[in-house]
Amino acid sequence: MVFTTEKTASLTFQIVQLCAGFCLVYVVIKSTQLYFKRQKLLKTLEGFPGPPSHWLYGNIHQVSKKIQYMCWAEKFPYAFPRWFGGFVPAVVITHPDYAKTLFSRNGNLLLFVPIGRGLLVLNGPKWHQQRRLLTPAFHYDILKPYVAQIADSVKVMLDKWEKLIAEDPTKSLEMFDHVSLMTLDSIMKCAFSYKSSCQTDKEQDYYVNAVQDMTLLVFQRVTSAFLRNQLIYSCTLSGRRFKEACSLAHHHTEKVIAERKESLKNERELEKIQKKRRLDFLDILLCAKDENGVGLSDEDLRAEVDTFMFAGHDTTASGISWILHSMAQHPEHQQKCREEIKDILGDREDIHWDDLGKMTYTTMCIKESLRLNSPVPVVSRQLSKPITFFDGRTLPEGLHIFFKSEVLFFIPFYSLKHSRPTIFQNPESLKSRRAKSS
Ligand code: HEM
Repeated sequence: MVFTTEKTASLTFQIVQLCAGFCLVYVVIKSTQLYFKRQKLLKTLEGFPGPPSHWLYGNIHQVSKKIQYMCWAEKFPYAFPRWFGGFVPAVVITHPDYAKTLFSRNGNLLLFVPIGRGLLVLNGPKWHQQRRLLTPAFHYDILKPYVAQIADSVKVMLDKWEKLIAEDPTKSLEMFDHVSLMTLDSIMKCAFSYKSSCQTDKEQDYYVNAVQDMTLLVFQRVTSAFLRNQLIYSCTLSGRRFKEACSLAHHHTEKVIAERKESLKNERELEKIQKKRRLDFLDILLCAKDENGVGLSDEDLRAEVDTFMFAGHDTTASGISWILHSMAQHPEHQQKCREEIKDILGDREDIHWDDLGKMTYTTMCIKESLRLNSPVPVVSRQLSKPITFFDGRTLPEGLHIFFKSEVLFFIPFYSLKHSRPTIFQNPESLKSRRAKSS
């Protein structure tokens, strides 16, 4: 009996030793691989000086705030590497001429929000094919009736604000959530002919909450060296929250598609739909056929609906909120916009399509606000083939390229303000007139 126990203990010890040996070998191999990977990356990027980075954390521990990028952009004009951990570099572009080379779609867009392979993410021939199928959805005439529909959604939001202000005139109002629900309501009506009560029914605002959760969690993930690993991420609380938010968002788009497919079954043919009402974006998606008569697959359809639902409401909500913020900070511009709109409308309360083109001063203020605070602060590319910039510097395929829009469109004007003041003088201030020529 004693003999058996001793034998078992020694066997266990041997197994533990073996496992420890394997782990040690694995750690040594992995560390060597990572060492050589880092050396290779450092060599690749040696032509691009950048801020000092830690071998393990990279630049993750340095605050990724606009001000930090401004300092870096001043110090390293054109482009510089930023390390997301010691082994994942991204190249931040800080000059429009560099960006021009990349904007010619030399690479795949990296999007961490799972909206499928819709127009926003597609590239090459598939993008051309899908874009051609969806051309009717981008026709000017499609936009015209949207003005009245958006105005209706705005009215619901303003009525809500009036009530809230009447309840407590001293309390400040967080506008972004309200504006997000208004833009979601608008896109649902305009693109999907879907009458939603998301602005007034608390049960219906889950999509906006899910999208807000997703965007915050994505930001948290891309700024962490460890959360980039899918396995690690899926085990964290944030990873689980992200999965939940994605399934809520997908549930919303699937519901919209399913309801329309059901109603199309009754209407049967395209001509019948056309007679009944104008074609909206979803009709166009469902009826689109290429030259061989092949329509969009269910997966492509969901990706486009997800893209338009997400890209169409979140960007506009953020843009409008920043415009309101800029106007609040500059009452003199706000007053001029009010006067301009009042003059155009006269006794009317509703805005028409033709009025929009006459709002020149308001348009200039909107453009300036978008320049100051871009609703899409960063876009990114993963190079699909090597690239050479105008000054001869090159990068190989596979590298991540980040355009910080505030860097690209904003910081160069900071960093250039002393050397080339002719581009944008005093770039931090809102100057409506400067948008005149843009
Ligand atoms: C202020 C509002 C908006 C801003 C700032 C904005 C910004 C952008 C940017 C920067 C891109 C290019 C991304 C890249 O290539 O890396 C893009 C593409 C796109 N956006 Fe928007 N967007 C806005 C409104 C909208 C709306 C309202 C919709 C739809 C209803 C929309 C749908 C799309 C689509 C489908 C693409 C991909 C286009 C293509 O590749 O063919 N966007 N947007």
